Amino acid sequence: MKSSNSRPSRVGRNPFVHKLKFTVTEKIKIGLMSVTVFPVRLLLVSTLMLLAWPFAFTAALGRSDFVIEPQPWWRRFIDLCLRVIMRAMWFCGGFHWIKVKGERAAASEVPILTVAPHSSYFDAIPVTMTMCSIVTKLESKSIPVWGTLISYIRPVFVFRSDQDSRRKTVEEISRRAQSGGEWPQIMIFPEGTCTNRSGLILFKAGAFIPGLPVQPVVLRYPNKLDTVTWTWQGPAAFKILWLTLCQPHNPMEIEYLPIYTPSKEEKENPALFANNVRKLMAKALELPLTDLSFDDREISLARGPLRIHDLSSLLEFHQLVCRLGLRAGRTDNVLEEQARRARKLRGDRQSLEDFAQFLNLPVTDTLTQVHSLFDQRGDGQIDIRHYIIALSTVHRPSKSMETLKLAFKMYESEENGYVLEEELAAILEIMLGVKEVELSGLFLTLDRPDSAKITYDELHHYIEQHPYFVQDCLDFQNHPRKFGPPKSCNGQKHNKED
Ligand SMILES: *[C@@H]1O[C@H](CO)[C@@H](O)[C@H](O)[C@H]1NC(C)=O
Repeated sequence: MKSSNSRPSRVGRNPFVHKLKFTVTEKIKIGLMSVTVFPVRLLLVSTLMLLAWPFAFTAALGRSDFVIEPQPWWRRFIDLCLRVIMRAMWFCGGFHWIKVKGERAAASEVPILTVAPHSSYFDAIPVTMTMCSIVTKLESKSIPVWGTLISYIRPVFVFRSDQDSRRKTVEEISRRAQSGGEWPQIMIFPEGTCTNRSGLILFKAGAFIPGLPVQPVVLRYPNKLDTVTWTWQGPAAFKILWLTLCQPHNPMEIEYLPIYTPSKEEKENPALFANNVRKLMAKALELPLTDLSFDDREISLARGPLRIHDLSSLLEFHQLVCRLGLRAGRTDNVLEEQARRARKLRGDRQSLEDFAQFLNLPVTDTLTQVHSLFDQRGDGQIDIRHYIIALSTVHRPSKSMETLKLAFKMYESEENGYVLEEELAAILEIMLGVKEVELSGLFLTLDRPDSAKITYDELHHYIEQHPYFVQDCLDFQNHPRKFGPPKSCNGQKHNKED
């Protein structure tokens, strides 16, 4: 698969990882803090959180999910106590002073605050300072103690088990947003997941669908050693807590930007609205835009024996298919059905028009771009099987063996299920996102002198025996192996079964 040159490799970088490196001095400091300040802080923070619990519990008693009842004095008193306790808790955690720039608008003016970048659970600080509502998954309600505190701020719960959850969440956000300030403001982290703050990823549309003014809020942690960032791949939650509590002071900045009122066009097009707000926030943060989304996280982090090696072309492909709207209705069944049709074409090369007909889509710019990604020879013709392998790879990134099986179904010979060496190379090139896969080493160790062909079961068995299949048994352009061709796959150093 080609990568278009128009887009720099920005999308290939992975903001869902956080690697922490310490200097020797930092290690010594952390060691000292761990046996002195850390236990004290941990005790204080836990005590304050436990202290907050009965307040939050009492205040939530007898509240309805659908209406806001009048606020008697005792509820207001509890609210004040909670704010004080929470602020004290952050203080004990090393967030001694928090710089707040700009001013938060009133709920009647802007019902929704969009907060970015989302990078840590410490992003809860502005929430507890304002007691705004948030959007969170239903499961967080059942976290001990913290769940009660979350429930206190009347979050919009997302029922992930529910098929309609997206629509219902957006409806609930709209309903509250249109209450004219009766409901608390909602703080939304439109990125929908945590990144390492190296850029702003794509915003989800939820906060922008109501088409009402929003106030963007940007967060900064100007710490020298970044101990607060929590991403899907990096230090675990408790390690983050430990390292952060070991820092003498944890600086944080919250900046309320001016209210953003959508134009008529933006009201009608939430994606445009979202993107314009994103640009504005990126500018305030002096960060680049990273055209990755919440869904790309799965692709970036997928594991498994045949995990994607070079993300850039597949992520670009994924963005294009999302733009074509192919992601939404796509299921394993659709893939199987398309694979059956592609098999019938037997590698007949397809022009752009044929491709459009195959997908039952009109010829658009985006479709042309997708088509050209697979036009390796540059003659305007593609093998549709390549497209289907790529689609399956981005659709179920952590099930690479399923994709391999699907690919075999399209290529294997009817009589004996064999796939030829060069066909397998093409399949792996797409799945791994690499170029010039060389399989002679693999076929050599298979010890089949007569022919270079293999069945799915044989390959499956082989990969099961070689957990580092890609590293040890393959060769391709820019392979991480430093010197020489792959050694025999039999006596490799990583093999755990030895
Ligand atoms: C954060 O993500 C960027 C890619 O966007 C990556 O280059 C960088 O190494 C990551 N930072 C850390 C500390 O892991």
